[in-house]
Amino acid sequence: MDVTAELKRRSGRIESAIDRLLPAKTVRPERLHEAMRYSLQAGGKRLRPVLVVASAELFDPQGRTDPLPAAVAVECIHTYSLIHDDLPCMDNDDLRRGRPTAHKAFDEATALLAGDALLTEAFALLSRAYAGNPALAQALVHELAQAAGSQRLIGGQMADLLAERQGNAGTGDLEFIHLNKTAAMIEASLVMGGLCGGASPEAIERLRSAGRNLGMAFQVIDDILDATADSASLGKTAGKDAKAGKATFVSLHGLEASRAHARDYTDRSVAELARLPGGALFLAGLAEAMAARSH
Ligand code: IPE
Ligand code: IPE
Ligand code: MG
Ligand code: MG
Ligand code: MG
Repeated sequence: MDVTAELKRRSGRIESAIDRLLPAKTVRPERLHEAMRYSLQAGGKRLRPVLVVASAELFDPQGRTDPLPAAVAVECIHTYSLIHDDLPCMDNDDLRRGRPTAHKAFDEATALLAGDALLTEAFALLSRAYAGNPALAQALVHELAQAAGSQRLIGGQMADLLAERQGNAGTGDLEFIHLNKTAAMIEASLVMGGLCGGASPEAIERLRSAGRNLGMAFQVIDDILDATADSASLGKTAGKDAKAGKATFVSLHGLEASRAHARDYTDRSVAELARLPGGALFLAGLAEAMAARSH
Protein backbone atom coordinates (compact mmCIF):
# COMPACT_ATOMS: atom_id res chain seq x y z
CA MET A 1 0.00 0.00 0.00
CA ASP A 2 1.27 3.49 -0.86
CA VAL A 3 0.62 5.09 2.52
CA THR A 4 1.68 8.58 1.43
CA ALA A 5 -0.76 8.59 -1.50
CA GLU A 6 -3.49 7.15 0.71
CA LEU A 7 -2.85 9.80 3.39
CA LYS A 8 -3.09 12.51 0.72
CA ARG A 9 -6.38 11.12 -0.62
CA ARG A 10 -7.81 10.87 2.88
CA SER A 11 -6.66 14.34 3.94
CA GLY A 12 -8.40 15.73 0.84
CA ARG A 13 -11.69 14.36 2.20
CA ILE A 14 -10.95 15.98 5.57
CA GLU A 15 -10.26 19.35 3.90
CA SER A 16 -13.65 19.25 2.13
CA ALA A 17 -15.41 18.34 5.37
CA ILE A 18 -13.72 21.23 7.20
CA ASP A 19 -14.87 23.61 4.50
CA ARG A 20 -18.42 22.25 4.67
CA LEU A 21 -18.78 22.08 8.48
CA LEU A 22 -17.18 25.35 9.68
CA PRO A 23 -18.87 28.77 9.52
CA ALA A 24 -18.03 30.60 6.26
CA LYS A 25 -15.65 33.55 6.51
CA THR A 26 -18.49 35.79 5.33
CA VAL A 27 -20.34 35.11 8.61
CA ARG A 28 -20.27 38.04 11.02
CA PRO A 29 -17.83 38.86 12.61
CA GLU A 30 -15.92 38.11 9.41
CA ARG A 31 -12.49 38.72 10.96
CA LEU A 32 -13.01 35.95 13.54
CA HIS A 33 -14.26 33.37 11.04
CA GLU A 34 -11.47 34.34 8.67
CA ALA A 35 -8.90 33.76 11.44
CA MET A 36 -10.44 30.38 12.34
CA ARG A 37 -10.25 29.28 8.71
CA TYR A 38 -6.79 30.82 8.23
CA SER A 39 -5.29 28.41 10.76
CA LEU A 40 -7.56 25.45 10.06
CA GLN A 41 -7.13 25.60 6.29
CA ALA A 42 -3.38 26.21 6.27
CA GLY A 43 -2.73 22.54 5.57
CA GLY A 44 -1.04 20.38 8.16
CA LYS A 45 -0.70 16.64 8.00
CA ARG A 46 -4.28 15.98 9.17
CA LEU A 47 -2.97 12.98 11.10
CA ARG A 48 -5.60 13.09 13.85
CA PRO A 49 -8.73 13.35 11.66
CA VAL A 50 -7.34 10.67 9.33
CA LEU A 51 -6.90 8.42 12.38
CA VAL A 52 -10.55 8.99 13.35
CA VAL A 53 -11.85 7.98 9.92
CA ALA A 54 -9.48 5.03 9.41
CA SER A 55 -10.28 3.70 12.87
CA ALA A 56 -14.05 3.95 12.24
CA GLU A 57 -13.67 2.06 8.95
CA LEU A 58 -12.12 -0.92 10.72
CA PHE A 59 -15.41 -1.58 12.51
CA ASP A 60 -17.95 -0.05 10.11
CA PRO A 61 -16.60 -0.58 6.58
CA GLN A 62 -20.01 0.30 5.09
CA GLY A 63 -19.87 3.73 6.69
CA ARG A 64 -23.28 3.55 8.40
CA THR A 65 -22.15 6.29 10.80
CA ASP A 66 -20.27 9.20 9.21
CA PRO A 67 -17.04 9.75 11.17
CA LEU A 68 -16.17 12.99 9.34
CA PRO A 69 -17.82 15.40 11.83
CA ALA A 70 -15.92 13.68 14.68
CA ALA A 71 -12.73 13.93 12.62
CA VAL A 72 -13.27 17.65 11.99
CA ALA A 73 -14.04 18.23 15.69
CA VAL A 74 -10.67 16.69 16.60
CA GLU A 75 -8.88 18.87 14.03
CA CYS A 76 -10.61 21.97 15.47
CA ILE A 77 -9.25 21.20 18.93
CA HIS A 78 -5.79 20.40 17.56
CA THR A 79 -5.68 23.64 15.56
CA TYR A 80 -6.86 25.71 18.51
CA SER A 81 -4.10 24.13 20.62
CA LEU A 82 -1.54 25.15 17.98
CA ILE A 83 -2.83 28.75 17.78
CA HIS A 84 -2.56 29.11 21.55
CA ASP A 85 0.75 27.17 21.72
CA ASP A 86 2.28 29.74 19.34
CA LEU A 87 1.17 32.83 21.30
CA PRO A 88 3.90 35.09 22.76
CA CYS A 89 2.95 34.03 26.31
CA MET A 90 3.44 30.35 25.38
CA ASP A 91 6.07 29.23 22.78
CA ASN A 92 6.18 32.59 20.98
CA ASP A 93 6.40 31.27 17.42
CA ASP A 94 6.13 33.21 14.16
CA LEU A 95 5.69 30.35 11.71
CA ARG A 96 3.07 27.58 11.60
CA ARG A 97 2.05 25.26 8.79
CA GLY A 98 4.33 27.24 6.49
CA ARG A 99 2.60 30.57 7.18
CA PRO A 100 2.84 33.37 9.75
CA THR A 101 1.19 32.25 12.99
CA ALA A 102 -2.37 33.47 13.66
CA HIS A 103 -1.28 36.26 16.02
CA LYS A 104 1.23 37.49 13.38
CA ALA A 105 -1.25 37.36 10.49
CA PHE A 106 -4.05 38.92 12.60
CA ASP A 107 -3.31 40.10 16.14
CA GLU A 108 -3.02 38.48 19.55
CA ALA A 109 -6.59 39.06 20.66
CA THR A 110 -7.99 37.72 17.39
CA ALA A 111 -5.75 34.63 17.64
CA LEU A 112 -6.89 34.03 21.22
CA LEU A 113 -10.55 34.33 20.23
CA ALA A 114 -10.16 32.18 17.11
CA GLY A 115 -8.69 29.47 19.35
CA ASP A 116 -11.53 29.85 21.87
CA ALA A 117 -14.09 29.62 19.08
CA LEU A 118 -12.52 26.50 17.53
CA LEU A 119 -12.53 24.80 20.93
CA THR A 120 -16.24 25.49 21.41
CA GLU A 121 -17.12 24.73 17.79
CA ALA A 122 -15.71 21.21 18.19
CA PHE A 123 -18.34 20.33 20.79
CA ALA A 124 -21.14 22.14 18.94
CA LEU A 125 -20.27 20.07 15.89
CA LEU A 126 -20.39 16.76 17.78
CA SER A 127 -23.71 17.55 19.45
CA ARG A 128 -25.23 18.64 16.13
CA ALA A 129 -23.88 15.89 13.87
CA TYR A 130 -24.64 12.95 16.18
CA ALA A 131 -27.95 14.22 17.65
CA GLY A 132 -29.73 11.23 16.07
CA ASN A 133 -27.63 8.85 18.22
CA PRO A 134 -27.49 10.43 21.70
CA ALA A 135 -25.42 7.59 23.23
CA LEU A 136 -22.75 8.06 20.56
CA ALA A 137 -22.86 11.86 20.90
CA GLN A 138 -22.36 11.56 24.66
CA ALA A 139 -19.47 9.10 24.30
CA LEU A 140 -17.71 11.30 21.71
CA VAL A 141 -18.15 14.48 23.76
CA HIS A 142 -16.87 12.69 26.85
CA GLU A 143 -13.82 11.28 25.10
CA LEU A 144 -12.86 14.59 23.46
CA ALA A 145 -13.48 16.65 26.60
CA GLN A 146 -11.30 14.31 28.68
CA ALA A 147 -8.48 14.38 26.12
CA ALA A 148 -8.58 18.17 25.73
CA GLY A 149 -9.03 18.94 29.43
CA SER A 150 -6.95 19.99 32.42
CA GLN A 151 -5.52 16.56 33.09
CA ARG A 152 -4.52 15.77 29.50
CA LEU A 153 -3.83 18.30 26.68
CA ILE A 154 -3.99 21.43 28.84
CA GLY A 155 -2.30 19.72 31.78
CA GLY A 156 0.52 18.67 29.45
CA GLN A 157 0.86 22.21 28.11
CA MET A 158 0.98 23.59 31.67
CA ALA A 159 3.64 21.06 32.68
CA ASP A 160 5.60 21.88 29.51
CA LEU A 161 5.72 25.57 30.45
CA LEU A 162 6.54 24.84 34.10
CA ALA A 163 9.41 22.58 33.01
CA GLU A 164 10.72 25.36 30.76
CA ARG A 165 10.54 27.89 33.60
CA GLN A 166 11.97 25.64 36.31
CA GLY A 167 14.54 23.85 34.14
CA ASN A 168 14.73 20.75 36.32
CA ALA A 169 12.34 18.29 34.65
CA GLY A 170 13.21 14.61 35.00
CA THR A 171 12.20 11.64 32.87
CA GLY A 172 8.92 11.19 34.77
CA ASP A 173 7.96 14.83 34.16
CA LEU A 174 8.85 14.53 30.49
CA GLU A 175 6.73 11.43 30.10
CA PHE A 176 3.80 13.26 31.75
CA ILE A 177 4.24 16.19 29.35
CA HIS A 178 4.35 14.10 26.17
CA LEU A 179 1.64 11.68 27.24
CA ASN A 180 -0.72 14.55 27.85
CA LYS A 181 0.13 17.48 25.57
CA THR A 182 0.35 15.24 22.50
CA ALA A 183 -0.54 11.57 23.02
CA ALA A 184 -3.95 12.38 24.57
CA MET A 185 -5.38 13.76 21.32
CA ILE A 186 -3.88 10.98 19.18
CA GLU A 187 -5.31 8.39 21.56
CA ALA A 188 -8.72 10.14 21.49
CA SER A 189 -8.65 10.18 17.67
CA LEU A 190 -8.39 6.39 17.42
CA VAL A 191 -10.91 5.88 20.22
CA MET A 192 -13.46 8.30 18.71
CA GLY A 193 -13.15 6.47 15.39
CA GLY A 194 -13.79 3.20 17.21
CA LEU A 195 -16.83 4.71 18.93
CA CYS A 196 -18.25 5.88 15.57
CA GLY A 197 -17.67 2.39 14.15
CA GLY A 198 -19.29 0.61 17.11
CA ALA A 199 -16.10 -1.12 18.34
CA SER A 200 -16.30 -3.45 21.36
CA PRO A 201 -14.94 -2.26 24.74
CA GLU A 202 -11.92 -4.57 24.24
CA ALA A 203 -11.19 -3.05 20.83
CA ILE A 204 -11.55 0.46 22.29
CA GLU A 205 -8.90 -0.38 24.90
CA ARG A 206 -6.59 -1.69 22.17
CA LEU A 207 -7.12 1.52 20.15
CA ARG A 208 -6.34 3.54 23.26
CA SER A 209 -3.09 1.75 23.86
CA ALA A 210 -2.09 1.94 20.17
CA GLY A 211 -2.89 5.67 20.20
CA ARG A 212 -0.94 6.34 23.38
CA ASN A 213 2.18 4.70 21.96
CA LEU A 214 1.74 6.35 18.57
CA GLY A 215 1.29 9.72 20.31
CA MET A 216 4.44 9.26 22.40
CA ALA A 217 6.41 8.34 19.27
CA PHE A 218 4.93 11.35 17.49
CA GLN A 219 6.08 13.87 20.12
CA VAL A 220 9.53 12.26 20.51
CA ILE A 221 9.96 12.65 16.74
CA ASP A 222 8.66 16.25 16.93
CA ASP A 223 11.45 16.88 19.48
CA ILE A 224 14.02 15.20 17.19
CA LEU A 225 12.88 17.20 14.14
CA ASP A 226 13.02 20.47 16.10
CA ALA A 227 16.70 19.72 16.74
CA THR A 228 17.65 18.32 13.33
CA ALA A 229 15.39 19.64 10.54
CA ASP A 230 15.10 23.12 8.98
CA SER A 231 12.23 25.57 9.24
CA ALA A 232 11.39 25.37 5.53
CA SER A 233 10.70 21.64 5.61
CA LEU A 234 8.97 21.79 9.02
CA GLY A 235 6.77 24.78 8.16
CA LYS A 236 7.53 25.99 11.70
CA THR A 237 10.65 27.43 13.33
CA ALA A 238 13.33 24.80 13.86
CA GLY A 239 15.74 24.84 16.80
CA LYS A 240 13.29 26.60 19.13
CA ASP A 241 13.25 23.98 21.90
CA ALA A 242 16.94 24.25 22.79
CA LYS A 243 16.79 28.07 22.66
CA ALA A 244 13.76 28.16 24.95
CA GLY A 245 15.28 25.59 27.32
CA LYS A 246 12.37 23.16 26.81
CA ALA A 247 12.37 19.73 28.41
CA THR A 248 12.41 17.40 25.39
CA PHE A 249 13.52 13.83 24.70
CA VAL A 250 16.53 15.30 22.89
CA SER A 251 17.57 17.57 25.80
CA LEU A 252 17.14 14.79 28.36
CA HIS A 253 18.26 11.68 26.49
CA GLY A 254 20.22 12.91 23.44
CA LEU A 255 19.44 12.20 19.78
CA GLU A 256 20.47 8.58 19.56
CA ALA A 257 18.50 7.43 22.60
CA SER A 258 15.51 9.54 21.44
CA ARG A 259 15.53 7.71 18.10
CA ALA A 260 15.55 4.38 19.96
CA HIS A 261 12.61 5.53 22.13
CA ALA A 262 10.66 6.60 19.04
CA ARG A 263 11.29 3.20 17.44
CA ASP A 264 10.18 1.44 20.59
CA TYR A 265 6.93 3.41 20.93
CA THR A 266 6.17 2.90 17.22
CA ASP A 267 6.76 -0.87 17.49
CA ARG A 268 4.40 -1.06 20.45
CA SER A 269 1.74 0.87 18.59
CA VAL A 270 2.06 -1.28 15.47
CA ALA A 271 1.86 -4.47 17.56
CA GLU A 272 -1.46 -3.31 19.09
CA LEU A 273 -2.81 -2.22 15.70
CA ALA A 274 -1.99 -5.63 14.20
CA ARG A 275 -4.52 -7.20 16.59
CA LEU A 276 -7.39 -5.05 15.28
CA PRO A 277 -9.78 -6.15 12.48
CA GLY A 278 -7.94 -6.93 9.23
CA GLY A 279 -4.64 -6.16 10.97
CA ALA A 280 -5.37 -2.41 10.55
CA LEU A 281 -2.92 -2.32 7.63
CA PHE A 282 -3.36 1.34 6.71
CA LEU A 283 -3.08 2.48 10.35
CA ALA A 284 0.05 0.37 10.87
CA GLY A 285 1.54 1.80 7.65
CA LEU A 286 0.62 5.29 8.82
CA ALA A 287 2.38 4.72 12.17
CA GLU A 288 5.52 3.68 10.25
CA ALA A 289 5.23 6.67 7.91
CA MET A 290 4.97 9.02 10.92
CA ALA A 291 8.10 7.41 12.40
CA ALA A 292 10.00 8.13 9.18
CA ARG A 293 8.58 11.61 8.59
CA SER A 294 10.67 14.70 7.85
CA HIS A 295 8.08 17.30 8.92
C1 IPE B 1 2.14 19.67 15.98
O1 IPE B 1 1.32 18.66 15.49
C2 IPE B 1 2.04 19.71 17.46
C3 IPE B 1 2.48 18.48 18.10
C4 IPE B 1 1.72 17.82 18.88
C5 IPE B 1 3.81 17.97 17.87
P1 IPE B 1 1.42 18.19 13.98
O2 IPE B 1 2.86 17.88 13.64
O3 IPE B 1 0.45 17.10 13.73
O4 IPE B 1 1.00 19.52 13.19
P2 IPE B 1 0.18 19.70 11.85
O5 IPE B 1 -1.24 19.43 12.18
O6 IPE B 1 0.74 18.71 10.83
O7 IPE B 1 0.43 21.13 11.46
C1 IPE C 1 2.84 20.99 21.03
O1 IPE C 1 4.13 20.78 21.47
C2 IPE C 1 1.80 20.37 21.75
C3 IPE C 1 0.49 21.02 21.56
C4 IPE C 1 -0.48 20.59 22.24
C5 IPE C 1 0.25 22.14 20.65
P1 IPE C 1 5.17 21.72 20.74
O2 IPE C 1 5.17 23.09 21.30
O3 IPE C 1 6.47 20.98 20.67
O4 IPE C 1 4.56 21.79 19.25
P2 IPE C 1 5.21 22.59 18.07
O5 IPE C 1 6.61 22.07 17.90
O6 IPE C 1 5.15 24.05 18.41
O7 IPE C 1 4.33 22.21 16.90
MG1 MG D 1 4.60 23.97 23.10
MG1 MG E 1 5.28 24.97 20.22
MG1 MG F 1 7.74 20.87 19.02
